[in-house]
Amino acid sequence: MNPTKLFRVLGWTVLAVLPVLAGGADDFAPFPTGENAALVKKTCTECHSANIVLSTQFDEALARRQYKLFVGDPDSEEGQKVIKYLTTVLGIK
Ligand code: HEC
Repeated sequence: MNPTKLFRVLGWTVLAVLPVLAGGADDFAPFPTGENAALVKKTCTECHSANIVLSTQFDEALARRQYKLFVGDPDSEEGQKVIKYLTTVLGIK
């Protein structure tokens, strides 16, 4: 392999790996920044697009109802985190 080709291959490898490195725990787009945004993304985009969630404004009762309906116990540690995010970051303006 000549050096130019080697560098080209390395370059593509770096480009391919970057999004993976940038992802991980902080990968919450398109959800707005906020505590537990990544958790909410993981929990609430399993069955449908983020848009369904993002186009809704949640009060406490709705957030708890949706969580219970789709995921499980709203009083679990994870449930409380998700509901807090929904009612604040995506809360009623
Ligand atoms: C187990 C699958 C599943 C999970 C997980 C899930 N949903 Fe849903 N969700 C659905 C289905 C099915 C619908 C109704 C069909 C549709 O509109 O696509 C829906 C619809 C919705 C709607 C539209 C209003 C309505 O009731 O039809 C909202 C808002 C919503 N989900 C919020 C959430 C939130 C917030 C979470 C995370 C806590 C979540 N969903 C997680 C399956 C799920």
